Parts: sequence; structure tokens; C-alpha cells
Amino acid sequence: MPSSPKPALQVENLGVIFRDASGVVHALHDLTFSIPPNGFISLIGPSGSGKSTLLRVLAGLVPPTEGEVRYHTDEPKIGMVFQSANLMPWRRVIDNISLPLELKGVPRQEISERAQDLIHLVGLEGFERAYPRDLSGGMAQRVAIARALIQDPDILLLDEPFGALDALTRERMGDELLNIWHARQKTVLMVTHSIGEAVYLSDQVLALSTRPGTIILDLPVELPRPRQPEMRYAEAFSELTHTLRDTLQEDHGLAG
Ligand SMILES: Nc1ncnc2c1ncn2[C@@H]1O[C@H](COP(=O)(O)OP(=O)(O)O)[C@@H](O)[C@H]1O
Ligand SMILES: [Mg+2]
Repeated sequence: MPSSPKPALQVENLGVIFRDASGVVHALHDLTFSIPPNGFISLIGPSGSGKSTLLRVLAGLVPPTEGEVRYHTDEPKIGMVFQSANLMPWRRVIDNISLPLELKGVPRQEISERAQDLIHLVGLEGFERAYPRDLSGGMAQRVAIARALIQDPDILLLDEPFGALDALTRERMGDELLNIWHARQKTVLMVTHSIGEAVYLSDQVLALSTRPGTIILDLPVELPRPRQPEMRYAEAFSELTHTLRDTLQEDHGLAG
């Protein structure tokens, strides 16, 4: 029997407590889960349940108060994408994408080749020399995704990347993200507020409770790939969204 591959990431009994002048906030409580290499995992939960905090812990920006985070590699490279693209308005698309490599002093020729590859991957041909003010929300997020990918991260962390987009653009961006994920073989952890989006994109969905966030459901999604828009109407799909919705609603009812 082949042994299952080593997880890309393991989180054990993770807890985060913030202490500041205004008091103590228990943000995350006793989270344990693992993410397989090249998995696509979504994280869903109510506002304030610690989703962004979890991503920041995984990125090494916030230290755990309890428990630990273990990566498969020693110095994992991490790419982050936020809800707002946070592009530099005075830099052209290509120069926004190139920035992380420029900061690392990578040779110009290599930067230019990698940036051009990513322009193709995220479908921004023809917009290399545009400025952020000339981009739609969906295009700006493509730039942010390309900028996160240019360092060839081991894991891509996305914090509600499509939250500001209209419904149809959002669905299209979801499909494009799957194409990118497939082409680049990345491990992805994405925060979303959308139950349907979580199921449609993922191999596994983690649902967090109201604060302090703890995992109330770790749901495998065994829908075939590649995912197709029509799958949203399949029975297996609605069973999964029902399970997720019921779990989130029940927890919310207890908290409310
Ligand atoms: N640096 C911080 N200091 C104090 N409290 C924080 C800090 N960061 C987040 N929090 C609090 O932790 C809780 C979880 O926040 P967050 O992770 O942003 O939730 P979510 O992304 O799920 O909406 C919130 O109550 C928030 O106010
Ligand atoms: Mg958040």
C-alpha cells in the first residue's frame, strides 16, 4: 500500500490570544488539521472567528499562543493575497508583479521572463503596461495573484480574494484560480464567506465556529475534477453545501 504523502502543513492544538491595553481577545482555540501537498482547502466562518488571524499565523506574522504549526519544508515560501489587491498605483501591472523579485535583487532578465509567464497564466496579456487605476476589480486581483506567485511559493494563502467582486466575475475568477492551481501545483488555503464557492473550489473545507474560532467541521469534498460550472446544480454538490450551512447555522444559533 502506498503511504499517504507527508502533509504540506500540520497545525496542532493551535490557540491564539491577543492581549493589549483594551483587554484580552481569545481569537483561536485548539485548532488541529493538516493540509495535503497540492491540496485546495477553504476556510469558512463568521466574522471575527479568527480566519485572518489563522492565515497570519501560517504566514509567520503572528506567533501562536498555544500549539504549533509545522511545515513539510524547513523554510516554506508563502504567498499572500488579500481582499483588496493593494497594488502600488505608480507602478505598471508588470512592475507590480515584479516587485517581490526586485526587492530580492533577482537579475532583471529573469524577473522579466517570470513576470511575462505570469501575465499569460493570469490572462493579463495586453495589460502589462497599464496602471492599477485602469484595471477592473477582477483584473487587479489577477495582478495580486500573479505577484504572490512570482516567488514560486510553497503555499498560497488567500484572504477573501474575491470578496469585493460581483457574483459572475467572482465565479469566473474561481475557475481561473483552479486553472492556475492546476498549472502550478500549489497548496492553497483560501478564506471565503461563500459556502458555494468553498465547495466548488476545494478538496476540503474547514468551518470555524464563532469566536474563539475552533474547527466545527472538516469536510472532504469528493467532487470530480476538473470542476465545471454545471456541477453547482448536482445533488452531491447541494448535499455538501447543506451540510456546511447546517453546521454554520447551528453554531451561530448557539452563539446568538
Ligand atoms: N492584532 C490584534 N490585536 C487584538 N485583537 C485582534 C488582533 N487581530 C485580530 N484581533 C481580534 O481577533 C478576532 C479575530 O479576528 P480576525 O482573525 O480578523 O477574524 P476574521 O478574519 O474571521 O473576521 C477579532 O475579535 C479581532 O478583533
Ligand atoms: Mg478576516
